[in-house]
Amino acid sequence: MHYTPQTFNIPELDGISRETIDEHIGLYNGYVKHANLIREKIEDYSNDPDNNDYAVGEMQRRFGFEFGGMRNHEYYFTQFEGGAKVLPEGTLKTMLERQWGKVDNWYQRFMKIAMTRGVGWAMLYIDRQTDQLVETWVDEQHLGQLADLDIVLALDMWEHSYMRDYPASKKKEYVDAFFRNLNWEVVSRRVS
Ligand SMILES: [Fe+2]
Repeated sequence: MHYTPQTFNIPELDGISRETIDEHIGLYNGYVKHANLIREKIEDYSNDPDNNDYAVGEMQRRFGFEFGGMRNHEYYFTQFEGGAKVLPEGTLKTMLERQWGKVDNWYQRFMKIAMTRGVGWAMLYIDRQTDQLVETWVDEQHLGQLADLDIVLALDMWEHSYMRDYPASKKKEYVDAFFRNLNWEVVSRRVS
């Protein structure tokens, strides 16, 4: 089993520079590389359990970070493909309105989550067991990911996402830019 890095066809964005995106994709490739590397090393080290059990345990602990870094970014970058598109009528819009009254109420709440201190992700998931949307903050790449839920919208709030374009004190402007460029059609398809 080997993870292959995805390629992304990202148009020019409004408020997020090409340099930021190029560097960010380079970081994504690093997560894919390290997710593969950890799995290979665990396999190698497991051949000598007497000497390597501790090291294998530590690598196993680290795997969630690298895997999350890989998968989260795949959700993030594909949201820009095809260019900005408004939220279409359909299941996602219906669910947002059912749970928050109107989409803007959800947006205001999600913005607050995005402003959480520290590095991590603002996430919107769908819980198919209860047919509800759930939003939360994920520390780093993996701490707080909600078991069994599918990612609907992934907003990277690590500083590498915006520091070339905005100072840390203006990260809200990055979030505004993120939503200006979001292809809501891609996001909507994730709940169907
Ligand atoms: Fe990132």
